[in-house]
Amino acid sequence: MLRSPDVATGLVEPGTAAYDELVDLWVRVNDAGGAVGFEPGAPRAQVAASLDRRLADCAEGRAELVRLVEPTIASWDDPSAYGPVLGFGFVDLPQPRNIAHRTRLYAVMVDPQRRGRNLGRLLLGSLHACAREHGREIVDLGYRGGTGLGDFYATCGYVETGRIPGGLRLSTGDRDDVTMARRLDGHPLHG
Ligand SMILES: CC(C)(COP(=O)(O)OP(=O)(O)OC[C@H]1O[C@@H](n2cnc3c(N)ncnc32)[C@H](O)[C@@H]1OP(=O)(O)O)[C@@H](O)C(=O)NCCC(=O)NCCS
Repeated sequence: MLRSPDVATGLVEPGTAAYDELVDLWVRVNDAGGAVGFEPGAPRAQVAASLDRRLADCAEGRAELVRLVEPTIASWDDPSAYGPVLGFGFVDLPQPRNIAHRTRLYAVMVDPQRRGRNLGRLLLGSLHACAREHGREIVDLGYRGGTGLGDFYATCGYVETGRIPGGLRLSTGDRDDVTMARRLDGHPLHG
């Protein structure tokens, strides 16, 4: 079946299969060298605790979880009948009035076995769509220098807005802490 992935938003409850899928994927992404808050070999319990904190933000309306999920024949008619998760990320929703037009993306990741199939771009587009639905006009994110991720985000319209050389301390050495941003309303970030 040739169909684009489906997009699922909304809370995922601990103890459900969907929750376990998210922890499993996050652990596999870490172990494959992904830069989503951990290093390879991070204990599953630590990853689950991080997921719990983000889901608590979602429950309080301070963030939104966006999942890219495999379509099924049944999901053609019933959008809730989707298959396994392919990737996910969080849209942070700051509430203070002076930054309520902005958002930050966290924990953006795709199944390591399905990289390079445009799922990352689709996931980013879905995160942007979610942010726009919440009235957000500017999005930023942080990434670990030396990962090549800057090139990926640049092809998705982001420009570098900040870099702290050696700002991230990992077991393998220090890496730059880089911030990139773009607008979501079609205007360029700089004038
Ligand atoms: C970053 C990530 C989400 C991209 O997902 P993906 O499905 O592999 O990306 P896509 O297939 O949509 O790639 C789009 C383009 O970006 C490029 N690209 C993707 N990841 C890249 C990377 N790490 N370095 C350099 N280029 C990259 C692809 O080669 C592709 O280029 P092309 O169009 O010229 O072929 C995925 O690699 C991932 O989950 N990484 C681990 C988690 C992580 O580090 N997340 C970033 C947190 S800031």
